[in-house]
Amino acid sequence: MKVLIVGGGGREHAIAWKAAQSPRVEKLYCAPGNAGIAEVAECVNIGVMEFDKLVAFAKEKEIDLTVVAPDDPLAAGAVDAFEAAGLRAFGPRKNAAILEGSKAFSKDLMKKYGIPTAAYETFDDPDQALAYLETADMPIVLKADGLALGKGVLICNTREEAKAGVKTLMLDKQFGSAGNRIVVEEFLTGREVSVLSYVDGKTIKTMTSAQDHKRAKDGDQGLNTGGMGTFSPSPFYTAEVDSFCKEKIYQPTVDAMRAEGREFKGVIFFGLMLTTKGPRVLEYNARFGDPETQVVLPRMKNDIIDVFEACIDGTLDQIDLQFEDNAAVCVVLASDGYPEHYEKGFKISGLEKFKDADGYYVFHAGSKFDADGDIVTNGGRVLGVTALGPDLKTARANAYQATEWVEFGNKYMRHDIGKAIDEA
Ligand code: AMP
Ligand code: GLY
Repeated sequence: MKVLIVGGGGREHAIAWKAAQSPRVEKLYCAPGNAGIAEVAECVNIGVMEFDKLVAFAKEKEIDLTVVAPDDPLAAGAVDAFEAAGLRAFGPRKNAAILEGSKAFSKDLMKKYGIPTAAYETFDDPDQALAYLETADMPIVLKADGLALGKGVLICNTREEAKAGVKTLMLDKQFGSAGNRIVVEEFLTGREVSVLSYVDGKTIKTMTSAQDHKRAKDGDQGLNTGGMGTFSPSPFYTAEVDSFCKEKIYQPTVDAMRAEGREFKGVIFFGLMLTTKGPRVLEYNARFGDPETQVVLPRMKNDIIDVFEACIDGTLDQIDLQFEDNAAVCVVLASDGYPEHYEKGFKISGLEKFKDADGYYVFHAGSKFDADGDIVTNGGRVLGVTALGPDLKTARANAYQATEWVEFGNKYMRHDIGKAIDEA
């Protein structure tokens, strides 16, 4: 069959790499893709929000299955656009992608259906938000309602910071219209875990757990980023936590969406906080995580095309989802200065070392071919270096060793990805 993947980052490279292994796939396209994805798929120069062009391309090439990976096109109805043209697409429709697209929606859903999450209030009016903050407990968390590239969350330690945060989000509109409405939320402490799952509307099958490192600098300092590295599985995600979440969080979320007339088909990513009072949902994403995907898919045994189709067809109950009994660590190689100001266009060398190295992968996040056909840096996050190992410590040592194989100008990484492994 012919498959099109929509997106062009490290997550999409991992999905494309996994899809390319399916014996059922005869031709793989990726729009827009990147220089790394070009090794496993034919890249097509169409942007992820250009729905008309994407649909026209899928029709012309007789694509059998399109996988929409990023949050923006999902929230804007990319899957609906493909379906309206009679094409098969993997991912939630617009009315279900709201699970990620509006934090106020997801918080209200959790409250209505008794799904454990932080206590919260929602505000459309900055004055009311400010009045509420006069008596609220600190620290407190402010969240822009809409999509803000994972950056619309402010953790405020003092009342002054919180008031300034309301100004940043609601008056200065640092994240645009995403901040027209905000959620003000109880501050939770504990270990964070990401659990990705496949959902077919009724049935949910969770993938192996992972943990991200969102801050730019070692010791969880610096600004929030899209993610600087991941490991899988999380040693803190015990069988006990898993059974609690299955009963109180995962299936209830899927059932709630169906009860609301917003049947969810695709990937639900549960961002969890393991608090002393039990697991709580920090956030939902309506898609694969980045860079969680880069550690989860290399451990997945199934043919991913079978799983995508089962989600679309409502037959996920017939899939025996399996993961290797090993571990993976991904270290992101970024451009120095990310997530703020950074330069692009530096030649990347050493990529060929990954070709024959079993259990080592380099997933491209921001790369492109320059006019001479050389691969150069083209983003803040440039590469995700993933390595497998029989256990987390070995996988981490392998991943850091492999970060030395590649070089490019202004290469930057965190040196403490997976430090939590030592505390397990
Ligand atoms: P989100 O985009 O909602 O995942 O938030 C980004 C990050 O902010 C999370 O990964 C957490 O580290 C942190 N965060 C979000 N909500 C809370 C909360 N209620 N308490 C503490 N930290 C939070
Ligand atoms: N790694 C977090 C995310 O994909 O939102």
